[in-house]
Amino acid sequence: MRILSGIRPTGRVHIGHFVGVFENWLKLQENNDTFFFVADWHALTTNFEDTSTLKEYTKELMKTFMAVGLNKSTLFVQSAIKEHAELMLLLSMVTPVSWLERVPTYKEMKQQIADRDLSNSGFLMYPVLQAADILIYKADGVPVGEDQVYHVELTREIARRFNYIFKREVFPEPKELLSKVPKMLGTDGRKMSKSYGNTIPLITTENEMSKMILPMITDPARKRKTDPGNPEICPVWDYHKAFGTTDNPEETQWVMEGCTQAKIGCIDCKKLLLKHMVERLSPIWERYDKITDDDVSETLEEGNAKASSIAKQTMEEARNAIGLMY
Ligand code: TRP
Ligand code: SF4
Repeated sequence: MRILSGIRPTGRVHIGHFVGVFENWLKLQENNDTFFFVADWHALTTNFEDTSTLKEYTKELMKTFMAVGLNKSTLFVQSAIKEHAELMLLLSMVTPVSWLERVPTYKEMKQQIADRDLSNSGFLMYPVLQAADILIYKADGVPVGEDQVYHVELTREIARRFNYIFKREVFPEPKELLSKVPKMLGTDGRKMSKSYGNTIPLITTENEMSKMILPMITDPARKRKTDPGNPEICPVWDYHKAFGTTDNPEETQWVMEGCTQAKIGCIDCKKLLLKHMVERLSPIWERYDKITDDDVSETLEEGNAKASSIAKQTMEEARNAIGLMY
């Protein structure tokens, strides 16, 4: 299967990206033709007023793709492949405005985000650009979280309408590959979010990681070590599950019994978690530190070239179907 997904460079990469996105991508790249990219044009749709961090976050994402081990995938940056923009233009011709106005993320963000101006037409076109990203590579599968499913559905509708109107099967209809995203709350027990300042960065050091994990909120009933707790309502337990404690029956029992019978302290419990996190993440940190700007440029050159050749071919077909001369 050809598989494609993208991620917007709007902030630091955090631990939720690793558990929810990258681990899934790593599995997919083993048996599929995978394409992963940094959606920098999409970042612009909501952050056009302040682009000061765009380059830095784009680079950080690329470096992270490389450090986590996505070396069997084609990695590229959206804005390097101008054909995405051309295809978006053509797709916009067959996309009714009403389809875009009823996109749930569009409606929600317009209502919820008061501190930014989202009246730009680029933001309304967000799903058309996403459809172009997907269709230009004729992707079969698009790994996404729950919040992106509607965008893939819309991509299918746009593909169908294009094929119907221009009487050629240019675009296959992609499927969403819904990944079960483990729940990972922020250090304060609220949803992990840049605006709460409670996120845990993926790329850090053991020392910094322990400074974030050790003070983490736990089951509020465990004020003292002698108070019994319940892992099922503790955000730390979700981390244990994500980082492999629950694959080990003895450790699982140690936490379960220790917590519910007040035999271990939360610090003991978090130290075990830290051990697992460092085991899993320190090879990534080491690789990240060794990746130079030249390495990034080299990977990008290769990835952009491969993406570009496919994109160019699809554009030929799309232009021909419409009857454009150039
Ligand atoms: N909209 C996606 C998100 O915010 C990012 C994205 C852009 C994407 N283009 C894509 C995801 C194409 C999958 C396929 O997460
Ligand atoms: Fe959470 Fe572990 Fe403390 Fe129980 S012992 S409340 S699971 S941190």
